[in-house]
Formats: sequence, C-alpha cells, structure tokens
Amino acid sequence: MAESRLIEARSLARSFKTKGGTVEAVRGVDFEVRAGEIVGLLGPNGAGKTTTLRMLTTLLEPTSGGARVAGYDLQSQPREVRRRIGYVAQVGAAPSAGTLVGEELVTQARLQGLSKADARARLVKVAPELSLDGLERRALQELSGGQRRRFDVALGLMHTPQLVFLDEPTTGLDPQSRANLWEHIRRLRDEDGVTILLTTHYLDEADALADRLLVMDDGRIVADDTSEALKARISGDVIVLSVGDGADPGSVEAVVREAVGVRKLHRGDGGLNITVDKGAVAVAPILRALDAAAIEVEGVAVSRPTLDDVFLTLTGRSLREGEAPAPTPEPLAS
Ligand SMILES: Nc1ncnc2c1ncn2[C@@H]1O[C@H](COP(=O)(O)OP(=O)(O)OP(=O)(O)O)[C@@H](O)[C@H]1O
Ligand SMILES: [Mg+2]
Repeated sequence: MAESRLIEARSLARSFKTKGGTVEAVRGVDFEVRAGEIVGLLGPNGAGKTTTLRMLTTLLEPTSGGARVAGYDLQSQPREVRRRIGYVAQVGAAPSAGTLVGEELVTQARLQGLSKADARARLVKVAPELSLDGLERRALQELSGGQRRRFDVALGLMHTPQLVFLDEPTTGLDPQSRANLWEHIRRLRDEDGVTILLTTHYLDEADALADRLLVMDDGRIVADDTSEALKARISGDVIVLSVGDGADPGSVEAVVREAVGVRKLHRGDGGLNITVDKGAVAVAPILRALDAAAIEVEGVAVSRPTLDDVFLTLTGRSLREGEAPAPTPEPLAS
C-alpha cells in the first residue's frame, strides 16, 4: 500500500554551484519512511542532511531525482505536500521583539489556512503536548533554550501534519532538556501517530529515539537499518578476556580461534579483545576450550558495539566529535 509509505525518495540529488566549483551535497539517495516510524538521519557536518530535508519539504529543488512525500509528488504537487507536513529548521529564526508564544503559534496556523477558531483550538491541544502551557503569554526571546526548541516543534505541528521533519531538534540543549524533548517527540508518534524524520549528529540521540537509522556521509546513504541491526551486522560484539600470567598469549589465541568464529582479535590493555558475531553465545565455548587446555581465566566481559563503531566501520571516520556538549549553565536573566 502506497499509503503506508510517507516518504519515497528516488535518486534524490542536489548540487550547488559555488565559486570554488560544484558541491555535490546529496548524490542520489533512495530511501523510504513508513507511517508511524521515527527515522533518524545520522551523519557528520556537511553530510547532506539539511539539504535532503529541504528538498523533501519543497524548500529546495532537487537537481535530479525526486520523491513522493505524504502521498504526493514533490515536484508536481508541492502544495499538497506542504499542507501535510511540518518542518522545524536547524536553527530557530530570530524572533521579532515582543512576539508572544501563543500569538505566534496561532498566526502560523492561520498562515497555513486554519480559521481563527480552529487555530486557537489547536493551540489548546499543542501547547500542553510540548509543555508550553502557561507560557503562551511569554515573549519568545524570554524563553530558555529548551523552551524555545519546544516552541519551534510546536510551530511545526499547528496545522496537524501527518509527517514532521526535525532538523537537529536538540542541538545546543543541555542533557536534561534534550531528554525532555525526546520524550515529547516520542509522544507525538505514540499518541498522535505523527511520522517523524529527524536529523542528528548525536549518536545517543539516534540510538534512543529512532526506530531506524539512515546513516549519511558525503551526500550518500551508507546504511539503512535499526541501530541494533547495524551494530550486529557491522561491528560484532567484543569479548575481553584476561588469563593468568603463566599462559602463553600465542596459545591462548590459538585456542580461542579454534573454539569459535573470530572476526578480529587483538591484545588490549584489559586483555585479549575478541570480536565475534554474538558475544553471549561465544563465551561458553571459549571458556570450555580454555579449561580443556588448562588455561586459567581471570576475567571475561562482553561489550556491545556502539553506533560510533558502526560509523567508523562504514566511513573510516569517527562521529565522536559530534557527541553531546557538556551542559552549559542557563544564562541569568538580564
Ligand atoms: N546553499 C548552498 N550553497 C552551496 N553549498 C551548500 C549550500 N547548502 C549546503 N551546501 C553544501 O552542501 C553540503 C551539505 O550541506 P548540508 O547543510 O546538507 O549538511 P548537513 O549534513 O546538514 O550538515 P550539518 O550537520 O553541519 O548541519 C555541505 O558541503 C555544504 O557546504
Ligand atoms: Mg544541517
């Protein structure tokens, strides 16, 4: 059923002509997003995430390829698409002085074609969903970073879209505000059935929030799967094994290789690092084989790979630089 797919991107591409030459921002990506999913578009700075979102929200013409979004063709039916989607841009636009939260939400809804009464009714529903109730009469520039970002999300929801695009919804927020916004985003899906495509370069965010990940690098989608499946497929689990001082490292390695299918093996600080497909399954045969060879085991631990390991395997680079920022103190009211 075509209805169950809210996004179908086909060879979607965009390049930019600049003084320094042509920038291939998005190099022909194919992917789908199904109704009710939260999909994370994960990638480092400059990967092409925002460009992809701007194309899917009709804000930017593709150079080639296209997409169906919310059941309509992006290029020939942009108005139908726009009516059904919400978009929260990467950085909130600077508010004009004195704009009130509630007023701005109602104004935006009216710009989308809602009547005054419908816009007000929608405000009464959306404000509590984003914990903005009680803040309707506050000026926008008085909001904290977290409140401001929740306001941005509310703005994208006022016309009851089926599909919402969030571009780095939590960048710059402290850990508590990030977790709080994650909860709101999850609730939008769970309670209102809103489908969500969000970009992030935070691995923990992708892991915690998204049902499925599109990993993007240099204009390409290099992986498309659940976080768990990506970890299992690409990195394997690592068993860290330490043995008694008397044991010869070479023969320990030989015994391990004989006992289970080893993907990778190297000597680390904590002991022998053994990469296998399924750590929990491999531990018992390894221990039995070492016991049979009379090699004394002092410790064994299994660790699951992280999304960063996945990214490193896929692209040869680390995403760690994009890890969550240290909490910054709230600025004092001036
Ligand atoms: N209007 C433009 N003109 C020229 N180049 C552009 C333009 N917009 C984007 N680019 C380039 O396209 C590439 C992809 O940019 P994009 O904003 O999509 O990345 P991103 O994945 O959203 O990165 P970030 O995580 O930093 O937001 C970058 O190399 C960027 O410099
Ligand atoms: Mg971006």
